[in-house]
Amino acid sequence: MTRTCPRLVKTGYDEPAMAVLEVEIWRGGEDGAWRRYSVPHEANQTVLDVVTHVQRHIDPSLAYRFACRVGMCGSCAMTVNGRPRWTCRTHVSLAARKGRVRIGPLRNLPVIKDLAVDMAPFFEKWRDAEARFVPAAEPPDAPVRPDEPERKAADAGIECINCAVCYAACDSVAWNPDYPGPAVLNRLWTLVNDRRDGDRDGHLDAAGAGCHLCRSHQECANACPTGLNPTAAIAGLKREVFRRALGGRTRERQQ
Ligand code: SF4
Ligand code: SF4
Ligand code: FES
Repeated sequence: MTRTCPRLVKTGYDEPAMAVLEVEIWRGGEDGAWRRYSVPHEANQTVLDVVTHVQRHIDPSLAYRFACRVGMCGSCAMTVNGRPRWTCRTHVSLAARKGRVRIGPLRNLPVIKDLAVDMAPFFEKWRDAEARFVPAAEPPDAPVRPDEPERKAADAGIECINCAVCYAACDSVAWNPDYPGPAVLNRLWTLVNDRRDGDRDGHLDAAGAGCHLCRSHQECANACPTGLNPTAAIAGLKREVFRRALGGRTRERQQ
């Protein structure tokens, strides 16, 4: 039986062969410009293959970032025809429009050069929110079962690899640079639901007003290459922050 990796983005139909791709790539920093290249089109070619071809055969000064090439690290994320994507897992046949592909740096992050962005603001928001596991002083009095609702909620968001694709897709980040963004809030939600964590209130404090800046666009969920749903996680945070502000009365009423 042939199995397809769920992370591999495929078209589901056969594109007519495109002998040559017309590619536009962002060159320079924030004030750079689009530059055109012609790249041979090949079967099963990914967008990262296109960028690599340009760097190896046309212009060695092109700056970009990648590591694993197999959808594990998230470092190859770029904007492809207007959408943030992992370029190593995006087939040209999906992204190209009439043989044209436009490849730029991720949105909402400073451009260092060409396709490489500065990830520092993204990770500084994780640091500022202290979105990390804090072991409880006392372990849970019973083992965490796989079928517990909290465990399921935590599991649903745990596979984040910090690629910032959702961050680039989010208009609330674009409008308000102080908004923590979907990835940080998704992480806080996994921690709030982890019974082994000892700082639930601290995580809810960190989510605080930030989660209410989410406009529920779903763009983060639509873009996440691992299929996570930060919008749902943020909705959970909003609910818990509100519930805590009411002094737990909502929870008591439901029980
Ligand atoms: S939630 Fe998805 S898109 Fe966002 S950083 Fe994590 S893996 Fe990447
Ligand atoms: S749902 Fe919220 S976090 Fe996701 S893209 Fe929209 S505003 Fe951003
Ligand atoms: S290079 Fe690692 S996910 Fe693309």
